[in-house]
Amino acid sequence: MGSPRFGLIWFDGKFVPVDKPLVTLTTHAIHYGTSAFEGIRAYWDSDELRIFRLRDHVRRLRRSGAYYSMRLRYTDRELMDGMAGLCRRNRVKESCYIRPFYFVGEHGINLHVTRAAPTHVAMLVLPLRDIFDKGGISAEIVGRRKFSDLSTPVQAKMGGNYLNSIIATQEAKRGGFDEAILLDHRGDVSEAPGENIFVVKGGRLHTPPSSSSALDGITRDTVMRLAEDLGYSASARRISKERLLGADEVFLTGTAAEIVPVVRIGKKRIGRRPGPITEELMQEYQRTVAGRNPRYSRWLTGVYG
Ligand SMILES: Cc1ncc(COP(=O)(O)O)c(C=O)c1O
Repeated sequence: MGSPRFGLIWFDGKFVPVDKPLVTLTTHAIHYGTSAFEGIRAYWDSDELRIFRLRDHVRRLRRSGAYYSMRLRYTDRELMDGMAGLCRRNRVKESCYIRPFYFVGEHGINLHVTRAAPTHVAMLVLPLRDIFDKGGISAEIVGRRKFSDLSTPVQAKMGGNYLNSIIATQEAKRGGFDEAILLDHRGDVSEAPGENIFVVKGGRLHTPPSSSSALDGITRDTVMRLAEDLGYSASARRISKERLLGADEVFLTGTAAEIVPVVRIGKKRIGRRPGPITEELMQEYQRTVAGRNPRYSRWLTGVYG
């Protein structure tokens, strides 16, 4: 997970060195995946570090664990201050990634997790540049399906859920592709292992709805708003495999990935290069996260200012 260049983490309200042992092997989350997490980006620009949509990420963090009755013992304000403080204490003066999470601690082999189960909260900060080639990537529709609400709550960002993402990624990589695309339980397009997906056809943008087991992504929401501001229509609707392959443009969205054009799906070329609407949105997104889009300055939390 990147180098531990920023040597302090936040653990249960205190700043501690990243290499200090803090949990034991009997920690419930290691055995059962009972951790809720977020991935948040902060952007360095013009002498300020700005955390993007911090409040929305904190709200989702709380909602995730609530599906499993996991207690988050800090207020939203304490968590937000903790993350800004973590960046300051580590003197972060470059764009970075913040990973807050909470997890069930000592709870034996008990599968009955209640609000009485002990939980811990931690936050790390890591340097992070592009995780995909922004010039366009290849993707494969993998055989593994995205899990659905029929089995596990899709909107909960829980550690355990990511085994589905890991096995889908392994399948795509084995085939020589950069990324996987998962179908939902009905066979419609759902999302990528760690990103939402958009198709562009005739100037309209569509993205799978939550009923297709797509995460209600914060970048997805950002992109839909930016697209509308730029005069495009953007909406959630079910997308068949055929519709995906017949798209003019396809791109993925996620906090870590930002906006990434997909230029090949399996054997099908989607375009030789990123499409014009994808490129326009990529530019607008960078303008927004850098604090140069006054309409959305409320989405940015200054760390030093
Ligand atoms: C499964 C999954 N889908 C979509 C996303 C994109 O969500 P966001 O834009 O909120 O980062 C993520 C990343 O958090 C993810 O893990």
